[in-house]
Amino acid sequence: METKIYQIKKDAADHAAIEEAAKVIRNGGLVAFPTETVYGLGADAQNPQAAEKIYAAKGRPSDNPLIVHIAQKEDLSKAAGEIPKAAALLAEAFWPGPLTMILRKQTSIPKETTGGLDTVAVRMPDHPTALALIRRSGCLIAAPSANASGRPSPTLARHVAEDLNGKIPMILDGGEVGIGIESTIVDLTEKEPVILRPGYITGSMLEAVIGPVKLDAGILCADASVRPKAPGMKYRHYAPRAEMIVVEGRMEQVVEKINALADAMRAQNRKTGIIGTDETISSYRGDVAFSLGSRADAEEIARRLYRILRELDESGVDIIYSESIAAQGIGQAVRNRLLKAAGYQTLAPDENSGGWKIVS
Ligand code: TXA
Ligand code: MG
Repeated sequence: METKIYQIKKDAADHAAIEEAAKVIRNGGLVAFPTETVYGLGADAQNPQAAEKIYAAKGRPSDNPLIVHIAQKEDLSKAAGEIPKAAALLAEAFWPGPLTMILRKQTSIPKETTGGLDTVAVRMPDHPTALALIRRSGCLIAAPSANASGRPSPTLARHVAEDLNGKIPMILDGGEVGIGIESTIVDLTEKEPVILRPGYITGSMLEAVIGPVKLDAGILCADASVRPKAPGMKYRHYAPRAEMIVVEGRMEQVVEKINALADAMRAQNRKTGIIGTDETISSYRGDVAFSLGSRADAEEIARRLYRILRELDESGVDIIYSESIAAQGIGQAVRNRLLKAAGYQTLAPDENSGGWKIVS
């Protein structure tokens, strides 16, 4: 299949290509489109065959449910069977925006879309092209991130093409996304709201609107027996092809350790990639080193992370050492994605021995 790529200007909500894309969705086909977080791969959420096409194109396990995207808050009731007070408050506070809510599903949402679950993930994206596409299609649009399963989420249309060229009919190219990591997911089906995936909307932002919110235990820990509640969080996601290790600790300590590790790899003829920050990048001796941006600007770091993981893949490194990011604000989401990319392999200073230990 030929994949058509159309450039869409940010403000051009009425572009002819969006009309064509809307028709593809209505007819049960797939369209990749920009959102404010990452690119999504959309299909009619109420058409089981269309949802199945998403799994096939991505090579995604069929037990991993999709997020249903809506273009107006009133459509929440078309996806969710029950709308608790907290959901209404959060929609009012954060939609359109990078927040996904898990709710009891409406009967019209097929199990193919929800990975067999009775619950559904819903969000209203804050992007004119995404909103125009949903509106014009007349559908609710089920859309996971538009990467091949296991690859980092796409922040540019080029990333979508790298993974899905020839497998989908159309990509709407809206340039680089604004946020760069996927939406925050909050589960509202339990007694107490639980964050299943950290993102731009932080726990304290949610708590300011609905009171206490917990963090799913599966998010921060490598123990495979602690099963994350979002099925997608259990896979080694966001992953570069090379092995990756996150090195934590004081900045100078981390730089010294990563350089020592890179030297040892070079002695074995293994090519090393390093992920640093503007503050440290010139101190590194790796074969290739990328800066995530300045530690003073966590939003920039979030925006660049996935692109850098892809660039490291292209550079053909055998192993990647990465600095960590403080888990504050959006930094928590960045750290979560770094740890996932590394399969939770972490090195940290061992206060007892004065050496280093692997923590997981
Ligand atoms: O920012 C985003 O959310 C992007 C853009 C395209 O909107 N989408 C996205 O979708 O990241 P995806 O499929 O890559 O991630 C969806 C996550 C998965 O981890 C999935 O397991 C979880 O949401 N999820 C979906 N429905 C769920 C449900 N009913 N219960 C628990 N987790 C659910
Ligand atoms: Mg994804």
